[in-house]
Amino acid sequence: MQKIILDCDPGHDDAFAIMLACSHFNVLGITTVGGNGYLPNVTRNALQVLEVLGKTEIPVYPGHAGPAIQELTIADNVHGSSGMDGPHLPEPTISAQSEHAVDFIVRSAMNEEDLILIATGPLTNIAAALHRQPEIAQRIRALYFMGGGAYCGNWTPAAEFNIWVDPEAAYTVFHSKMPLYMAGVNLTRQCPVLKEDIETIRSFGNQTGKFAAELLDFFAKDGDAHLHDACAVAWVVDPSLVKDAFLHVDVELNGTLTRGMTVTDLRVLQSADCEKDLDLDSLKRWNDAPEDSPFRGLQPNTHVGMRLDFNRFRQLLFSTLQACR
Ligand code: BDR
Ligand code: CA
Repeated sequence: MQKIILDCDPGHDDAFAIMLACSHFNVLGITTVGGNGYLPNVTRNALQVLEVLGKTEIPVYPGHAGPAIQELTIADNVHGSSGMDGPHLPEPTISAQSEHAVDFIVRSAMNEEDLILIATGPLTNIAAALHRQPEIAQRIRALYFMGGGAYCGNWTPAAEFNIWVDPEAAYTVFHSKMPLYMAGVNLTRQCPVLKEDIETIRSFGNQTGKFAAELLDFFAKDGDAHLHDACAVAWVVDPSLVKDAFLHVDVELNGTLTRGMTVTDLRVLQSADCEKDLDLDSLKRWNDAPEDSPFRGLQPNTHVGMRLDFNRFRQLLFSTLQACR
């Protein structure tokens, strides 16, 4: 089984990321980061999800409470004051580890072969691990993360929440030379929570299905919710679910309107057909473009998720939840 570490800030959609990860991978640990909620809350939420799943052997390592250079912004308008409002769960009976998430990530990346990191919160812990031990960029197989967007934001017109919370951390990651797979909002908005799916999940009748349906009752109460973080994990479970393009991505740190934007060089994908915006189906790739072309764009550093097979994603989610306890 593929070994992974999931760095997250649960978070309703992070909870679904945990469910998928624990069902399909050898999860060496879950690390938590301040983001959707304050660190003690998101850590408690991670422990609670593991208890529901009966996966209490998976260790949870709390990490950074917030970014190094700015105040933490939390998303309590989306996830409620607990970070995971909705289901009424008892306090967890298991406890978090005393080792810091960053120490755990560095230790694991240096000792394990073929490790995949998946991040579904602000990139604060991952950047701190890179600062501590830059070699981990070469040691890990890949970092899949939910964050950014190829051409749009959600928290601001330009910036997606996870990157907005800690743009400097994201900058470190994009400049690290780690193999990067970005599940940005342009991809994850292709997986909306459908009311009928909540009832399907509830009808499974198991403990996890009941919990998942209650999470979605709260999360989708305003009618516009997406399982962003689950997409990043599903991409690792079944790479054929996502069509990606290998592109240059960098993070804007200074823009007055665009701080936290993942500026994605889409020039190589521009279509000759003005009815079409981007030509994902052409075989045109950065490597094929003439070197002296002014429209070739910058050298790619990130596999950017562009198209999600939503129906197959739902099937994966349903079959996974149904098989849980
Ligand atoms: C991201 O922000 C959080 O609210 C979600 O958990 C997800 O990771 C979407 O922008
Ligand atoms: Ca998240």
